[in-house]
Amino acid sequence: MNDRLIIFDTTLRDGEQSPGAAMTKDEKIRIARQLERLGVDVIEAGFAAASPGDAEAIKSIAGIIKHSTVCSLARANEKDVRAAGEAILPAASGRIHTFIATSPIHMEKKLRMSPDQVVEAAVKAVKMALEYTDNVEFSAEDAVRSEMDFLCRVFEEVIKAGATTLNVPDTVGYSIPALWGERMRQLIERVPGADRVIWSTHCHNDLGMAVANSLAAVMNGARQVECTINGLGERAGNASLEEVVMAVKTRRDVFTCDSRIDASQIVPSSRLVSQITGYPVQPNKAIVGANAFSHESGIHQDGVLKHRETYEIMRAEDVGWSHNKLTLGKLSGRNAFRTRLQELGIVLESEEAVNAAFARFKELADKKREIFDEDLQALVANESGLDACDRFRLVSLKVCSETGETPHAYIVLSDGGAELRADEFGGGPVDASFRAIEKMVGSGSSLLLYSVNNITTGTDAQGEVTVRLSRNGRIVNGQGADTDIVIASAKAYLNALNKLFGVEERAHPQV
Ligand code: KIV
Ligand code: ZN
Repeated sequence: MNDRLIIFDTTLRDGEQSPGAAMTKDEKIRIARQLERLGVDVIEAGFAAASPGDAEAIKSIAGIIKHSTVCSLARANEKDVRAAGEAILPAASGRIHTFIATSPIHMEKKLRMSPDQVVEAAVKAVKMALEYTDNVEFSAEDAVRSEMDFLCRVFEEVIKAGATTLNVPDTVGYSIPALWGERMRQLIERVPGADRVIWSTHCHNDLGMAVANSLAAVMNGARQVECTINGLGERAGNASLEEVVMAVKTRRDVFTCDSRIDASQIVPSSRLVSQITGYPVQPNKAIVGANAFSHESGIHQDGVLKHRETYEIMRAEDVGWSHNKLTLGKLSGRNAFRTRLQELGIVLESEEAVNAAFARFKELADKKREIFDEDLQALVANESGLDACDRFRLVSLKVCSETGETPHAYIVLSDGGAELRADEFGGGPVDASFRAIEKMVGSGSSLLLYSVNNITTGTDAQGEVTVRLSRNGRIVNGQGADTDIVIASAKAYLNALNKLFGVEERAHPQV
């Protein structure tokens, strides 16, 4: 067991706490299936007490996933623990992850509880969680700023109560590797019963050290790392799964443990999470960034051509870069389309969904000669982003854009089946389109972010647009993809509006 590193993915919980990254149940299920394919040991599927919708999503994931443990977060109180317990009931292997803050600042200012009360609540929550599963994780929130003696006391008590995994979070991303490694070492040395549990680390990236701190913890005895795809998460994010996994795999001379992750699923997982959440991956991001394996300088290119390992410590194909694999074209039929989706691990739930996706594929193949895997993934993300109960849909769009003239957009929308029409001028075709949509919808939201990325290369590539809207403190991301970026932009704007008008009230676990 000691040479096995448990990968606990919290993309669907901590990752979802990123502004606008809230996902629908179907989107969460798609990501959970991909995480299972990736070989993640534990999937933290959400925070059941956040809302009935969150509990429902966890329950569905628990019923579908067979090869990963499915976990729900719960604050250390009865309502949360019971909600988590009910949500994971259908799981082949389920876990409850309960937590309470242990630092003086959190106990005094946030919880308004004494240290004794915190210990009592932690023990009670762990015992209650054991009524549902024998796989119970306890986290000491803000462990980084907690007093060592108190931390040891809390951990000793929850081990006695029956917790099987103890998580040490750097909630605010404050630590540095030497100190974090030392904290883990001391905890394992000092806490009675430490050898009976798995020690875990959960690091945030506020100072850019989440991965380094997690690895330092591993070098000092942690055997579970909590991380997210693309490092998504609260504020500056969590430790990035792909970086932790590849560091441990690549430096087998340094680490005495390894994970069971199938590295070839890393890039597909990164693409899927980026498409669904609307968080683009920066080009120079390690492992999954577009430049991670490209050699620009002549000296490097020459070296790589002569002997690849001169400048490459990992192989692009080992982490799932398919190099824009050409897959289908205009003449490909339904069967070829369905087979390729299956090979990519994309499961469309109904025959109706396959038909809709195939129709979109044919439309795309008319505009774009070569269809790559990445196009198919975007197409399916787009298709399942369209919820049957979505209120707004784009019927048609026309823009006039000419040198010396003010751009003008004409848009026809369907609002719950009723057709609406409007036209507007704007600073550019995208601005004019958004103004025309707002004229019809009147959402009163403000645009926080607008970004366009090309899905593959070439001028006929699809543009993938992300729009982030905010209204009354609620933030949502919308995505749209099309070979015409003005159409992609309008789709992304409508996708964001559908989320804005559709999302239910949810509680945040840490506020
Ligand atoms: O950052 C944190 O402390 C958390 C806990 C809930 C584990 O996310
Ligand atoms: Zn966290």
